Amino acid sequence: MSFPQSLLIRGASIILPNGELMVGDVLTRDRQIVEVAPKISPDTTTREIDAQGLTLLPGVIDPQVHFREPGLEHKEDLFTASCACAKGGVTSFLEMPNTRPLTTTQAALDDKLQRAANKCVVNYGFFIGATPENQPDLLLAQPTPGIKVFMGSMHGQLLMDQEEALEAIFAQGDRLIAVHAEDQARINQRRQEFAGIHDPAVHSQIQDHEAALLATQRALKLSKKYQRRLHILHLSTGVEADLLRQDKPSWVTAEVTPQHLLLNTSAYETIGTLAQMNPPLRSPEDNEVLWQALRDGVIDFIATDHAPHTLEEKAQEYPNTPSGMPGVETSLAVMLTAAMDGRCTVSQVAQWMSAAVAEAYGIPNKGAIAPGYDADLVLVDLNTYRPVKREELLTKCGWSPFEGWNLTGWAVTTIVGGEIVYDQGKVNTEVRGQALTFL
Ligand code: DOR
Repeated sequence: MSFPQSLLIRGASIILPNGELMVGDVLTRDRQIVEVAPKISPDTTTREIDAQGLTLLPGVIDPQVHFREPGLEHKEDLFTASCACAKGGVTSFLEMPNTRPLTTTQAALDDKLQRAANKCVVNYGFFIGATPENQPDLLLAQPTPGIKVFMGSMHGQLLMDQEEALEAIFAQGDRLIAVHAEDQARINQRRQEFAGIHDPAVHSQIQDHEAALLATQRALKLSKKYQRRLHILHLSTGVEADLLRQDKPSWVTAEVTPQHLLLNTSAYETIGTLAQMNPPLRSPEDNEVLWQALRDGVIDFIATDHAPHTLEEKAQEYPNTPSGMPGVETSLAVMLTAAMDGRCTVSQVAQWMSAAVAEAYGIPNKGAIAPGYDADLVLVDLNTYRPVKREELLTKCGWSPFEGWNLTGWAVTTIVGGEIVYDQGKVNTEVRGQALTFL
């Protein structure tokens, strides 16, 4: 294994942990940041990066992705997905259990960790999925950021739509429960009402606001009853954000995706089934309420829900098309472009895409540019704009819902554990990330 060099990043605009900006240098050694100062003198063995004019952020931690390995590698695998991460400035990810086999046992979790150790160029962690039968695994599996519960929008063993089974998960143990909050009974009923309609826009009507709100209310109720650490994944509606604004216990967190902030139902007209995901895209008014909730701290952080499907799969007729869209390669640039448009600050983006995620999941030593923290970093260029182009994408699915968007804040250099994993368009495929730990 190559020993990470010592790196000196010179003259960057550094986003400090307090949100302030400092032009200066960052020195890394043995996988960690050792010094952050206006000027650091190099020794002869130090490799230097001239970062003048670039902005240095803590590497993005994407806390909700579907990377499809094992079992669905025709859509994506841990190598292609982690290369896409490196290109997008994502230095760590938390992956979901709906692979084949499902990640519902320690053995399946160990298998994913081994695969990731072999081929992931960024750091990794894997959720354990709840089924009505795997309580012992949920209590004991290690290491994992938490238990993933699909309250709806799922089929087979991972569907946890029965009250009793759901309550049993909240009642036992104390680790974090992350919920996909959509009410399956309401979705089933509305599928019947809208049967025979092939316009993908109907997807947002079938899996409507009420379906999301009902499930979020149920998860909150159980979390309060057992004072159980709850995380609400990809919050999509203004009504759910309003609910949390009024009633959010200190042990509850919530996330939003860039697509729920910046795309809405008008996307069906332009990109058709590529806009189909769960929970679905909502209205422009929902976009605005979600932005405000994020800025106010009602929503804690950002996740992409990177969920690739092939163009062939997406070319079928609705409702036979799978739900989901890729995101790790574009999320940071999409959010930084929003910052440059005045929707938020660059420091807020760093907070929502890194620091707040590390804090919520108890990932030690990540999410800040300070001595003692891991040297997971991304240098971005906030001065130039480049469009998202299909032919440049590294995700195996080969498309993006943001194609044609002219974005700034693209990663120029991404660093994982003190090693340069991406630089000016090229991934260093020799680099290997590490398994994340969770306090
Ligand atoms: O749209 C989605 N697709 N939402 C999910 O929660 C699952 C995902 C997938 O795995 O395809």
